Amino acid sequence: MIMNRKKVICSCKHVTKGDIADAVDRGAGSFKEVKKLTKVSKSCGKCKKKAKKLTKKLLKERVS
Ligand code: FES
Repeated sequence: MIMNRKKVICSCKHVTKGDIADAVDRGAGSFKEVKKLTKVSKSCGKCKKKAKKLTKKLLKERVS
């Protein structure tokens, strides 16, 4: 479960934790797919590390 869905991960594209969680729920199986669905990290790229880490975490939770 995600704690704060409203927390903005990517300020360029206004992508929140919830947006990333939804992308994973909708079947995104990799950061690349999350990126495609949410547009996260498509501008300056400074959120990439954070977004990637969150995606990994969510994918792990989904699998288990
Ligand atoms: S903060 Fe995500 S691309 Fe700039």
